[in-house]
Amino acid sequence: MAQAKKKTTSNPAAHHPVTLLRQQLGEGEGQWVSGETLSQSLRMSRTAVWKHVCALRTAGYRIDSSPRKGYLLREIPDLLLPQELQEGLQTALIGQGDIRFFPRTDSTNRQAKALAAAGAPEGTVVIAEEQSAGRGRRGRAWFSPPRTGIYMSLILRPDIPPQEAPRFALLAAAAVAAAVRETTSLEVMIKWPNDILAGGRKMGGILTEASMEMDRVEYLVIGVGLNVNLNRREFPPELQSIATSIREETGRPAGRILLTKRLLESLESTYHEYRREGFAPILKRWQDFTEMLGREVAVEVRGRMLTGEVAAFDADGALVLRTPGGEELRLFFGDVHFV
Ligand code: BTN
Repeated sequence: MAQAKKKTTSNPAAHHPVTLLRQQLGEGEGQWVSGETLSQSLRMSRTAVWKHVCALRTAGYRIDSSPRKGYLLREIPDLLLPQELQEGLQTALIGQGDIRFFPRTDSTNRQAKALAAAGAPEGTVVIAEEQSAGRGRRGRAWFSPPRTGIYMSLILRPDIPPQEAPRFALLAAAAVAAAVRETTSLEVMIKWPNDILAGGRKMGGILTEASMEMDRVEYLVIGVGLNVNLNRREFPPELQSIATSIREETGRPAGRILLTKRLLESLESTYHEYRREGFAPILKRWQDFTEMLGREVAVEVRGRMLTGEVAAFDADGALVLRTPGGEELRLFFGDVHFV
């Protein structure tokens, strides 16, 4: 799935002493590492080593210390910290530069758009443990409680005309569905355009936002929300019958760090595929995840309910709805209900 293995070089955070210390402790693989060894290999005083160990503990790492033996990394926190995500991340672009981490923010899409507008490069990722104003499609809210989901936004700068931008909603859905299937073995499905479903309930969603220049896309922000370790009763009452999480479907909690890495890798390989081969192979894979062709649906578009049969998905990812009168409507957005 990955395009290329690359060690982090462009990210200043990768050279931060705390990140380097974390790496060294991790290389100890359950063994004690002496303060002297750390001090020499990181070229810092033993007092500085101690100071950075304290910083890691504050971030949630469990590190034992002993005056004779040194330091032992016992446990890493289940937090989507940049240094954990970048460890062994098999991408060349996405997540190799800046991963902006927020314990809590309003919306990672809003943060990513601000960064993109200020010139942040392609591949920049924004991740939050909690969102206070998570945004869904069509002006809805996205329920984003702390430490149980994945809330992340990715900046891309594809060299494409504005009319190709809607394809990225489907591209992202195909990438996310593939990563979730591969990591959890769940039979996830996609509902047009980019709802991620399992057992008929919504497990994840994607909000793609674009900034356009005259005839090109300036940047895209792809926001991915995934319910990972929530219990059904933790959803607000109005979501309990329609939402689900990976934990609900598999019966056990899932590692969010691994899952986030697989998402980043899958998004990158699908993006490279688009640049190499165009949209057709991705659309085909996306369709294999939908099983919507030929089904009777009602599509809610701007408060109107349009009913008919799903006749096709066209080359731009529009849903072609054949009405009972035989007319074919191309829909670029809307909410699908199965009849
Ligand atoms: C949907 O309505 O299906 C789309 C939901 C998208 C939610 C994600 S969570 C991370 C990113 N930041 C946001 O504010 N929204 C997206």
